[in-house]
Amino acid sequence: MGESKSVIVFGADGYIGWPMAMHLSKLGYKVVAVDNLSRRSWDLEGGTYSLIPIASMETRVARWKTETGLDIVWRNLDMCDAEALDALVAEFMPEAVIHFAEQRSAPFSMISREHAVRTQVNNIVGNLNLLYSLHSIVPECHLIKLGSMGEYGSPNIDIEEGYITIEHNGRSDTLPFPKVPHSFYHLSKVADSQNIHFASRVWGLRATDLNQGVVYGVQTEETAMHPELFTRFDFDSIWGTALNRFCVQAAVAEPLTIYGRGGQTRGYLDIRDTMACITLTLENPPNMGECRVFNQFTEQFSLNELASVVSAAREKIGLQTDVVHLPNPRVEAEEHYYNPKHTALLDLGLKPHFLSDTLLTSVIEIVEAYKGNVDPVLLEVPSVDWRTGGNEIWEKYANRDAFKFNAEKTAKLVESLRR
Ligand SMILES: NC(=O)c1ccc[n+]([C@@H]2O[C@H](COP(=O)([O-])OP(=O)(O)OC[C@H]3O[C@@H](n4cnc5c(N)ncnc54)[C@H](O)[C@@H]3O)[C@@H](O)[C@H]2O)c1
Repeated sequence: MGESKSVIVFGADGYIGWPMAMHLSKLGYKVVAVDNLSRRSWDLEGGTYSLIPIASMETRVARWKTETGLDIVWRNLDMCDAEALDALVAEFMPEAVIHFAEQRSAPFSMISREHAVRTQVNNIVGNLNLLYSLHSIVPECHLIKLGSMGEYGSPNIDIEEGYITIEHNGRSDTLPFPKVPHSFYHLSKVADSQNIHFASRVWGLRATDLNQGVVYGVQTEETAMHPELFTRFDFDSIWGTALNRFCVQAAVAEPLTIYGRGGQTRGYLDIRDTMACITLTLENPPNMGECRVFNQFTEQFSLNELASVVSAAREKIGLQTDVVHLPNPRVEAEEHYYNPKHTALLDLGLKPHFLSDTLLTSVIEIVEAYKGNVDPVLLEVPSVDWRTGGNEIWEKYANRDAFKFNAEKTAKLVESLRR
């Protein structure tokens, strides 16, 4: 299938990147795993952590070799370092690159001006550097870029897969779908999408922009092989998804906290389907000069529906769950039309898993096993407020007794991760 084809996975220390690197290695691809460990340093800075302990990249890669006999090449590299990126691409001459390596939290991007700037510089510069490296060194390489369904926002019309044909004043054209995103983070993704589209038009680059929904679950065939191959599980109010937070709140006997009226509807998918979608994308590349857009999710839920799915799954094992509604710290529609198309990946052969069938095994049982690691402060509300920022939360998390790093120790740890 992927016999000896070279693929670079950027963001390979992350929640999705690490399982993806293993998945492709097992399929026979020559995988180069790249990350600058910034996510681990942001955790240290802000006092957050993965509920499930995760091994270092060195340990993961060694464990993978022991379990499977397969090599994953590991490189600590910042995508904002253009020279290092060029050297890496020239060394491995990849047939495809999968780009996960961004600051991916909407609340993080809304904490303060500094966090918004850091998010946009990291994401937009890293992506732009990659476009230049591909153009100048491997112009036929397939760029698979992780975008987000949040780029579209929640318009009062059907959301198409990337493009829309518009009739205007008697003329017609097919154009990138208009985007009204929800945060400075999502705006960085919109800028990436525009830059990728431009590079395809002007340089003839081939790219697939995957507008991904919210991913859940931590169990793939590969992560389940050994605890040192586990991937991260975020649950705090900065990095955790609503679904992860709900499952953790329920596990520690706290009510599920829905922001606002709870009609906010988003697309979701199981991490095993993420693996399948990206593999299908890789195996079915676009033509040169084509910038393909897929909406990558399998089901959609409002927050109220999500809370009901969690409650129902827990009820099956005799556990009771309470739900409360809180003032919404975000600025977003709390009741809205939502009908995004998502047929392209199904047409390529995707066979989805469904949340109500798998929630118990994919999330709830895992959270139950690790609930002793939960620091309830990380579930405290309100979260980062879109109108006023969230410096207080950031500082409260970082300085709390249960996670106190003195400044010097934290600085050293962050430095050692950056190397
Ligand atoms: N997790 C989701 O539900 C979800 C949903 C939609 C889209 N996405 C997108 O998928 C991608 C992966 O998400 P994730 O949840 O695995 O995130 P993650 O934070 O767990 O992983 C991202 C990784 O990228 C690395 N990184 C960040 N900036 C970098 C840089 N400049 N150079 C090198 N490495 C860098 C981080 O250290 C981290 O390990 C992201 O682009 C995210 O926006 C994720």
